[in-house]
Amino acid sequence: MITNRLSKTLAAALNAQMTKEAHASQIYLSYGVWAASQGFGGTANFLFRHAQEERDHMTKILEYILQRGAQVQITAIPAPPENPVSIVNCFEKVFEHEVDNTKEIYKIVKMSLLEEDWATSNFLQWFVKEQVEEETLAMELLDKMKLTGAEKANNSALYSLDRDLGKAPDETKSAEDVTAENP
Ligand code: FEO
Repeated sequence: MITNRLSKTLAAALNAQMTKEAHASQIYLSYGVWAASQGFGGTANFLFRHAQEERDHMTKILEYILQRGAQVQITAIPAPPENPVSIVNCFEKVFEHEVDNTKEIYKIVKMSLLEEDWATSNFLQWFVKEQVEEETLAMELLDKMKLTGAEKANNSALYSLDRDLGKAPDETKSAEDVTAENP
């Protein structure tokens, strides 16, 4: 008896997105290591926490593919891109990455709608909402950078920003704990 309720196309797209979330986790991890090596301990802490959040996104998709009776494909994760060249560039890269990720999510939403796979479309709404939050967060970080003077920021302003980022709570919610209302 066939219990798979995901089309081949959607299963492939969801598997690819699962790997993209794992890739995002590696990106945040590598930027975190870079930030730590530059003396931005608070920023590193923030990026490491976010790496865990991306890992939770990966798990969330993995669990959904399993729930729908389709096959999960665990593949190699591409290497993260080059390190940022400055702390401003680090936040710019984070923002660009999140915007790109949103586009990928939208593509799968569109596919699910064309296939009239309402379950997958509904599942993906969590990610649509999450991406709004992630883009907003990245944009706020860029705004804060601008307030500190961006590339011309002095050490004291950078110190304050770094300390603020480090102060946010350390725990990230696991995929099982989050809901559509509380991503
Ligand atoms: Fe999983 Fe930052 O998006």
